[in-house]
Amino acid sequence: MIGRLNHIAIAVPDLAAASAKYRDLLGAKVGAPQALPEHGVTVVFIDAGNTKVELLEPLGAASPIAAFLAKSPAGGMHHVCFEVPDIAAAAATLTAGGARVLGDGKPRTGAHGNPVLFLHPKDFDGTLIELEEVGG
Ligand code: CO
Repeated sequence: MIGRLNHIAIAVPDLAAASAKYRDLLGAKVGAPQALPEHGVTVVFIDAGNTKVELLEPLGAASPIAAFLAKSPAGGMHHVCFEVPDIAAAAATLTAGGARVLGDGKPRTGAHGNPVLFLHPKDFDGTLIELEEVGG
């Protein structure tokens, strides 16, 4: 079902500082910050050639990243995102198999303008998994 690893996401306490480190110390191609109020985050994508790194900073009071950073103030690995060709089919297969889709179970529009959903970390060995529908 899953295809390529689309990105690895890292929650950071200071997006500007983290972006500068990746750009200036690691010499990475760092994109512009993108506010995603629907997801409660501001994101920056880093092109790592074979995949991307997504830096996440909390946006708004109800941000899901705020609780994560309260437990891990220095930041840390937050989720991995795999590509799927048909997110509705993926959700149906996963739900039938006993895995839980977070939220209302319906895909939302993600940072790349594609439908995304998240799977409960307790169903995947303590790892939050994002699925993104990527056509073609
Ligand atoms: Co993501």
